Amino acid sequence: MKIKVTSPGRVNLIGEHTDYNGGYVLPCALNLSINLNFEINNKQSFVKTDLGYSMIFNINDSYKKSSIHWENYVYGVIEEIRKIKPDLNNFSCDIKSSLPYGAGISSSSALVCGLIKGLSILNNLNLDNSEIINLSRNVEHNYIGLLGGIMDQYTILNAKENKAILLNCNDLTNKYIDIDFVDLEILLLDTNIKHNLASTEYNTRVNECKQALKTINRVSNKKYENLSQVSLEEINDAKNDLSKNQFNRAVFVYNENKRAIKSAELIEKNNLSEFGELMYQSHEGLKNNYEVSCKELDFLVDQTKKIDGVIGARMMGGGFGGCTVNLVHCNETSAIVSKIKKNYKSDFGINLKAIIAKSGSGIKVMKN
Ligand code: GLA
Repeated sequence: MKIKVTSPGRVNLIGEHTDYNGGYVLPCALNLSINLNFEINNKQSFVKTDLGYSMIFNINDSYKKSSIHWENYVYGVIEEIRKIKPDLNNFSCDIKSSLPYGAGISSSSALVCGLIKGLSILNNLNLDNSEIINLSRNVEHNYIGLLGGIMDQYTILNAKENKAILLNCNDLTNKYIDIDFVDLEILLLDTNIKHNLASTEYNTRVNECKQALKTINRVSNKKYENLSQVSLEEINDAKNDLSKNQFNRAVFVYNENKRAIKSAELIEKNNLSEFGELMYQSHEGLKNNYEVSCKELDFLVDQTKKIDGVIGARMMGGGFGGCTVNLVHCNETSAIVSKIKKNYKSDFGINLKAIIAKSGSGIKVMKN
């Protein structure tokens, strides 16, 4: 049996760092993807990528942490699946990608979800989307050391073309929002600063939010399960008991949730200029209150304020590098890109990469 799994990247329109706080996000899938070609093999497993990396192993050997970062995604997937079925078929997997790596558009979740989907089929496990999401999150938490949420995996598995998903990450209720913007398009500007979220402040933010929730629950005598359930009043009531950072993180999460919900409403009403305003506000919050931006991302967002044709812009994803997401007028896109490219090169000496983000559908499988 041969299987081809097409696993897309994701763009998040708004609702950042809210997923692991049980809040709202508004992502869509990208039409760029990681393509994984699987086949069952008899004796050994082979994984090969178009970046020139390859792995050879026996799938039923005991797990060893690899010093090569990406290999731990593969081993992590296998370990998690072996908890469900201890004896797995060896396989070969040839990976080809049109998704840039390390740009904050979720190439790692696309890889992990694609591997799980493929191995699920090769081993007759029939894992459903929610099982794949959970396994994928376990891989990130346990083998990569990143305490991420479920936004990326959910989007990769459930996205539809021309739709964003307003997702409540607490109870996974969702609403598909039409994003056929007609004369506007989504432009990603890649700082080319590669973030390694695990070694940055990402996990610190997760823990700051947990601590803030604990304190707010204590002060307000409540038992909220996540920070997104807390009111602004309760955050303010606990202000003296929270550190300055914890207070700022909680206020950001409160506001960002409101912005994500409001943005979905505005997009539905085709009030895109107000949505653009919320994108800028989101960036300000991520920069000043949540402190996950960096000077290159701030520069790219500031540039858009001085240029015609940009409706809104903000950093996207975990932060500390990666892309900004911009909503721009289609007929201005090339002028916007060339101006910002020139200025970015002259200030930072770095080549800016631009991606016009077309929305795509969720993971696809072809068998033959
Ligand atoms: C990364 C994580 C997601 C989410 C974003 C921030 O992409 O993988 O779960 O937390 O950062 O919104």
